[in-house]
Amino acid sequence: MQFKQSIATQLSTITGHPETQLIEMIERPKNKDYGQFSIAVYKLMKNGMRKKRKLDETKSVNLEENLIAGEGKERKAADELCKELAEKFQSSPTISSTTPIGPYLNFHVQRPVFIQHVLNEVFGQKNLYGTFKSHGQGRTVVIDFSSPNIAKPFHSGHLKSTILGNFVKRIHDALGYKTVAINYLGDWGKQYGLLAVGFNKYGSHDELDQDSIKHLYDVYVKISQEAKHNPVIDQEANNYIKRMEDGDESVLSLWRKFRDLSIKEYKSMYKRLNIEFTSYSGESETQPLIPQVERLLTTKNLLSTQDDGICTIDLSEYNLGTPQLKRIDETSVYLLRDIVAAIQRKQLYNFDRMFYIVGMSQQNHFQRLFKILELTQSGEGEDGGKWAEKLEHVGFGMIRGVSTRHGTAVFLKDILDTAKQRMLDIMMGNKEKYQDIINSGPSRQVQKADGSQFIDNSSFDDDQTALSDENSQIDLIGLYGKEAADRIADIVGISAIVIHDFTRDRYKDYTFDWKKTVDAHGHNGVYLQYAHARLSSIEEKAGVKLNPRADLETLQESEAFDLAYQISLYPEIVLQSYKDFQPYVIVNYLFNLSQSISHALRTLRVKGMDPEVAEPRLLLFWCARVTLGNGLNLLGLTPLEKM
Ligand code: ARG
Repeated sequence: MQFKQSIATQLSTITGHPETQLIEMIERPKNKDYGQFSIAVYKLMKNGMRKKRKLDETKSVNLEENLIAGEGKERKAADELCKELAEKFQSSPTISSTTPIGPYLNFHVQRPVFIQHVLNEVFGQKNLYGTFKSHGQGRTVVIDFSSPNIAKPFHSGHLKSTILGNFVKRIHDALGYKTVAINYLGDWGKQYGLLAVGFNKYGSHDELDQDSIKHLYDVYVKISQEAKHNPVIDQEANNYIKRMEDGDESVLSLWRKFRDLSIKEYKSMYKRLNIEFTSYSGESETQPLIPQVERLLTTKNLLSTQDDGICTIDLSEYNLGTPQLKRIDETSVYLLRDIVAAIQRKQLYNFDRMFYIVGMSQQNHFQRLFKILELTQSGEGEDGGKWAEKLEHVGFGMIRGVSTRHGTAVFLKDILDTAKQRMLDIMMGNKEKYQDIINSGPSRQVQKADGSQFIDNSSFDDDQTALSDENSQIDLIGLYGKEAADRIADIVGISAIVIHDFTRDRYKDYTFDWKKTVDAHGHNGVYLQYAHARLSSIEEKAGVKLNPRADLETLQESEAFDLAYQISLYPEIVLQSYKDFQPYVIVNYLFNLSQSISHALRTLRVKGMDPEVAEPRLLLFWCARVTLGNGLNLLGLTPLEKM
């Protein structure tokens, strides 16, 4: 970026440090009033650097905090150097001034040049703004996510895996990787045998065709109850799965039907969530390769057979216990199937990395899996045959209390429908509440220069809102038609769920709260969608055309600059969020961006203004919308034009 470059060039001349090194050191000031770029001057001091290393080694204190808090010699010298550099640094066509604050040297950009630069960038890149397609070019990542179990509840862990996995996939797409999305269905194993036995007793093909997932679940619940006090059922289930593993076509055809119908229903849910899988390669597909993998494990001397005949693998020297790989009747277990699946996928996709998006409750399972694979890998082959290190468990915390109209969540469809219905109720039933939600949100929490917050109660400039009718009931259907209203409610409902989840560190446990997803003073998805819809409506009503060559000289207001500055941060935010696959980094950013948008909307009217004023404003808002839309897309959400 030309601004960082020009800072580095001049500082290099002054200090003698190499430019490339200086560019790396440039950060964003914590407080935006301090400027747009800054550099921690103590990093330029020889003894400052040495001190850092020493401190890091002895105790885990952060040098930065130490220096800043400290009053010692180093701190004084850093402050002095900072002042000195500030005096020497000359204003340039890109940097207007510098301010030394403690050991930090802060840089203020030339505002018109900066705005011009940012808007050009966004306009030039459009939906590619914030992507880095060359980053992962030629590399393949496999993402294993969602992976529900046929006939078992689609619990909150699956929901989280679904939306987080989609994000992990999308951010890799944005970084130019080839992505393979695998839905590793739980379509095999003991529980499956039980289901089949249940279906033969209680199932109905008619009901199965109508509502597969629900019917299979009902059958499963019934038969599991029965199995508790009838050991015969359990035996039958074991026999069934044994016949399946032996390839008995008479039992496999029923299994295939269950599987196909379930996938069909899941697909329509995933479509609502903008998710497409490359493959529904469930646990069942590991079957053909099991004997071969067993031989491999035997050659490597990893298997042992216990007195009771059960096949295990001894990982106790790695503190991972002695997991079982086969049952007494020789049928496979989850762990063995995962070993096989990993090997299959390596052969099939030759991935550079593979991610398993599964709750932390399975951490132990993945540690065992990765260890076993590592132990089987010989160091032969193209990549040394050692690819276990390319696997990563992307874990997450627990979500408690995802409930639906029917009680505790069991089906994905129910969760999505509940969200949609809640949105429809609010949108169509109660205009005041709806407007309260969309007019508030984080934009109202204004951060003052001293860091304190206050709630800004002034309302949006209504002329720049999408909704301006005065009825107390919003007739969404009348406005947009039934189909569009339905679509809007569905998208907003899903956005509410996803953003509610993505506002926190993925490892954190939390309790799901429907109220908070649409809370009037919260950071939520409704608010982000509304910000996007509002910008779309402004474009529609602007009265001028989008002009990329608009003269930006009239964009003098601080709100315009602040908004352009927020927009400029987006690409860095994407990279930051990529580091540890943390969607909250994007979400927090989108809230800040929306806040700047709403401040700018209050001052920078577009409609009815002279073209030389309206055009640059429109271009700025257009760029803000594209950035917000790119962010929503990255999170897996469809940005709304209307709501
Ligand atoms: N079906 C499993 C469950 O519901 C999740 C599968 C995760 N992926 C994997 N390769 N083990 O717990």
